[in-house]
Amino acid sequence: MNCKLLSGKKGVIFGALNENSIAWKVAERAVEEGAEIVLTNTAMALRMGDTNALAEKLNTIVIAADATNIDELDHLMKKTMEHFGGKIDFILHSIGMSPNVRKGRHYSDLDYDYLAKTIDISAVSFHKVIQTARKNDVMNQWGSILALSYVAAQRTFYGYNDMADAKSLLESIARSFGYIYGREKQVRINTISQSPTPTTAGQGVKGFDNLLDFSDRMSPLGNADADECANYCLTLFSDLTKKVTMQNLFHDGGFSNMGMSLRASEQYNKSFEYDKEHPFD
Ligand SMILES: NC(=O)c1ccc[n+]([C@@H]2O[C@H](COP(=O)([O-])OP(=O)(O)OC[C@H]3O[C@@H](n4cnc5c(N)ncnc54)[C@H](O)[C@@H]3O)[C@@H](O)[C@H]2O)c1
Repeated sequence: MNCKLLSGKKGVIFGALNENSIAWKVAERAVEEGAEIVLTNTAMALRMGDTNALAEKLNTIVIAADATNIDELDHLMKKTMEHFGGKIDFILHSIGMSPNVRKGRHYSDLDYDYLAKTIDISAVSFHKVIQTARKNDVMNQWGSILALSYVAAQRTFYGYNDMADAKSLLESIARSFGYIYGREKQVRINTISQSPTPTTAGQGVKGFDNLLDFSDRMSPLGNADADECANYCLTLFSDLTKKVTMQNLFHDGGFSNMGMSLRASEQYNKSFEYDKEHPFD
C-alpha cells in the first residue's frame, strides 16, 4: 500500500522562481508525497529564474502563463488537462509583486498605475486562476485551491505598502469564490498567512531583515520557514482537510496572536540603554 499523503493527486504550482521560492519547496515536497505536478510562471520569470531546472529535477513540464492574462491561463488549463489526460486536484497560487514597493514609492505617494498592477498581479490573478479553472472544469470534486498571504492584510506593517491592500483582497476572494466553488463542486479555497520568509519577493519589502528578526522574537514558536510552509500547504492539498474552506490560516509561529514578547521587549529596551550611554548621538 502506498501511504504517501498526495498519492494519485495532480496539481498546478504557480510561482517557483528559484530555490528560495515558497512554491519551489511546495513543488519538491508535493512530488515527494506522490503528487504529479505541472509548474507555471511568466515567460519572463522562465527566462530569468530557475523554474525549468526544477521541472527537469522533478521530471515534469513547465507551461508559461502570466496569471493576469486570461488567454494564457486558459491555455495553461487546457494544456494541463491534456498533459494529465484528465482533471486535477490542487492549485497553488504563490504570486506577489508590487511595482510601488519595487520603485520605493511611499504609501502616501502611490503611483496609481502601479497600484492597479499590484492588485492585478497579487490579488485579482487569484480570481482569474479560479475562474479559468472553473470555466474549463479543471478541478476534481473535493479539490483544493490555495494562495499565500501575509498578516499585513489585517494589521499595519510599515514598509509592506500597497501589498497589504492586495492581500486583503486576496483573502476576500478566497471567501467569495470558496462559497461558489464549494457549493457547486466541493472545491475548497483557502489562504495561508505565512511568516516573513527570505525569498526574492520577501526581500523586496522595505526593512525586511528587521521585520524577520522582530517577528521571530515575537513568535513563541519562531518564524515558520519555507520548508515548513510547504508542509502546511501539502496538508491542505490532502484529503485530511476536506472540510476546511474559505479560511485564512495563520502559519506564523503564533505571531498573529501576540502583543509583546519578552524577547522583543528586551531588544527594544536595549535602544533605551544605548540612548543613556550615548546621550549626544
Ligand atoms: N516571502 C515572504 O516573506 C512572504 C510572506 C508571506 C506571504 N508571501 C507570499 O508568498 C507568495 C510567494 O512569494 P515568495 O516569497 O515565494 O517569493 P518569490 O519571489 O520566490 O515568488 C513570487 C512569484 O510570483 C511570480 N509572479 C510575479 N508576477 C506574476 C504573474 N503576473 N503571473 C504569474 N506569476 C507571477 C514570480 O515570477 C515568482 O515566481 C507571494 O504571494 C508572497 O506574497 C511571502
